[in-house]
Amino acid sequence: EAMRRELEVLIATAPESKRLAFAQEMEGFTELFTRYHSERASGKGAINWMEIHTPRPNQILQYDVLAQPTDNIDAARAMLNKLVVLKLNGGLGTTMGCVGPKSAIEVRSQMTFLDLTVRQIEFLNQTYGCDVPLILMNSFNTTDDTAKIIQKYKSHDVRILTFNQSRYPRFNHESNAPCPNSFDSDKRMWFPPGHGDLYDSFARSGLLQEMLDQGRELMFVSNVDNLGATVDLAILQHILQSASEFVMEVTDKTRADVKGGTLVDHHGCLRLLELAQVPPQHVDEFKSISKFRSFNTNNLWMRLDAVYRVVAERTLELELIVNPKTIPETGEKVVQLETAAGAAIRFFKNGIGLSVPRSRFLPVKGTGDLLLVQSNLYSLSHGAMVLNKNRAVSTLPLIKLGSEFGRVSDYLSRFAQIPDILELDHLTVTGDVNFGSGVTLRGTVIIVATHGQRIDIPNGSILENKIVTGHLRI
Ligand code: UTP
Repeated sequence: EAMRRELEVLIATAPESKRLAFAQEMEGFTELFTRYHSERASGKGAINWMEIHTPRPNQILQYDVLAQPTDNIDAARAMLNKLVVLKLNGGLGTTMGCVGPKSAIEVRSQMTFLDLTVRQIEFLNQTYGCDVPLILMNSFNTTDDTAKIIQKYKSHDVRILTFNQSRYPRFNHESNAPCPNSFDSDKRMWFPPGHGDLYDSFARSGLLQEMLDQGRELMFVSNVDNLGATVDLAILQHILQSASEFVMEVTDKTRADVKGGTLVDHHGCLRLLELAQVPPQHVDEFKSISKFRSFNTNNLWMRLDAVYRVVAERTLELELIVNPKTIPETGEKVVQLETAAGAAIRFFKNGIGLSVPRSRFLPVKGTGDLLLVQSNLYSLSHGAMVLNKNRAVSTLPLIKLGSEFGRVSDYLSRFAQIPDILELDHLTVTGDVNFGSGVTLRGTVIIVATHGQRIDIPNGSILENKIVTGHLRI
């Protein structure tokens, strides 16, 4: 009740032209906040571990068994004209030390995530003579910069549509008082409530209706930083012919991704289970590769009429992810409430997992990932990353770069040239380390510069199964 009153005061500060939309947005926030409040009071919301099981084989389809579409261009065009592609573009590049949207980071050949996505869709439209629109879900954090970047695509063969996800007020973790005191309050007082916000925001923007009116049937959603999330015709064909309203692409876990959300069976129904929802005593079991073999890539396919239905009927109750934050300038401890898009799977009919090859999950979360995608392990083909055929093993190298490499600018300044890593299995670098040009890294390479020490890897070095500490002798 107190929150409702405070929100009414907040709504009154909005300019008249924006008040209605803002009030609607605050309705969404109130729903989340009410659940947060009652779950906290009742302890409800926590899952019962005994009811959670490994998904049954018929709940996870294997990519290999999908029929490959024929070479018929007309048939492919007809399918593609039923598709829209949506990229989740609400996040910032802060973790990699960049200001502005994460999608504005240059990944390869001076092209950003956005540039690569546009190239991919443009190529699809040109190859099949179709008109797949690219929709970007921005947040208040990314909308202005994104608008500047996409201006240059006006004359391209791709229709780029954008909408903004919700902007919800952060609130004090003890008093629950909202941080902003006016519609115009500073950006730090608000938060974008995770990609689970997609359904409401997309519907509210009017774009969902517009796409349905155009006869579009299916939407492919993915993280903008997942360079492997390309439009796959076998998947598209399968879903258009199936009764599944929602398909989540999952892929087998490796040691590096045991923290990812996983699909679980709950009374015969598939659910997404995130690490944050797991009771502490079961975390090891959650991470185990044998019980929950795969994880969510966040490549999600959904029928648009079903999205319309679940939003209209207000049946989506996506699990809350409570994200505590501290406002740096004031030290105030605040809370933001988020949801994940994949959690919606249980509210759709015939939701199913699809186990896809690892190549469909190529995210860039840190500079170690950047090293992978900038190296000779990949080449670029019309905006898509193609793995080098000469890589002998099917797994990617495990790369750990220390904090000295954390920001993109530092990472770039520490490599005169990206090393040859075609035969690399594992690289760990810590401390003040700099790489010359023409360096080759093979097998397991560990380079450690202790405090106050600097290691320069000379031009042309070949390091194979080597531990380097202090001075380098080759
Ligand atoms: P993140 O990169 O922040 O999340 O967002 P993550 O922890 O690696 O992955 P998840 O959340 O477990 O999947 C993933 C994508 O979602 C967008 C980001 O821009 C990125 O493309 N995103 C995130 C939004 O669009 N809105 C949000 O509120 C949060």
